[in-house]
Amino acid sequence: MSAGSRTLEDLRSLLTSCQGADSQQRVKFYDSWAETYEQDHSMMDYRAPHQAVHFLFENFSGHPDEVQVLDVACGSGLVANLMVELGFQHFLGVDGSRGMLDQAAKTGLYKELKLALLGTEPLPAQPGVFDVVMIVGALRDGFVPFSVVRELCLAAAPGGYVCMSRNGLESESGNQYKVSLEAELQLMEEEGLWSHVATKETDRYMIDMYSNCDHVQKDKYLHGTMYLYRKFLL
Ligand SMILES: C[S@@+](CC[C@H](N)C(=O)[O-])C[C@H]1O[C@@H](n2cnc3c(N)ncnc32)[C@H](O)[C@@H]1O
Repeated sequence: MSAGSRTLEDLRSLLTSCQGADSQQRVKFYDSWAETYEQDHSMMDYRAPHQAVHFLFENFSGHPDEVQVLDVACGSGLVANLMVELGFQHFLGVDGSRGMLDQAAKTGLYKELKLALLGTEPLPAQPGVFDVVMIVGALRDGFVPFSVVRELCLAAAPGGYVCMSRNGLESESGNQYKVSLEAELQLMEEEGLWSHVATKETDRYMIDMYSNCDHVQKDKYLHGTMYLYRKFLL
């Protein structure tokens, strides 16, 4: 089925088909979704990249054009596309899906794009170099394990920002992931690795494709949370 003829119901079936997948199966799913990812996400009113980039920018001090950005789970490049509008210019992207990286390459925005299944393979980024590390839409059960936040912090330069955005899909494993993630974020602060800058909730992350109703309700949205941390100047 071509993306143009897809409905929200079709997308719901597609998403339901990969519920419970592990991260290896997940990135294969994204390989097959890559070509229509942006069009389909626009239909689902996926606002997370826009919200995360503005959340970062509200709290950011520095010259965007001088900043090295690491875009983790970069997908097709939506985050970099929005950051460019705010003056950011230097991007390295990482994703576990070759198909998504091929789409990101077409933007022409990334200096480098690297393939890695995070949680299984180490984050392929030089430590202590990146002024901004972004991860949007991938800190979820079956995607990127919460423990990878330590690698995000390691990649950040002293004084660099780590901006994380995730949806608040309610499920037993989703709730457990959130508890574990937030405990890890706090533990890292107690260990003196970084300091908390801000947390912001959004009630319009994207249309809720997972509700128990018979049909997708276009006015029902998933909740999301954005976290911003700043690595200590050591
Ligand atoms: C919802 S998309 C988000 C993409 C992009 N950040 C955006 O907001 O449009 C999730 C991305 O995470 C990637 N991903 C999921 N699990 C991963 C893993 N364990 N390692 C690397 N990438 C992963 C997928 O391939 C996909 O590109």
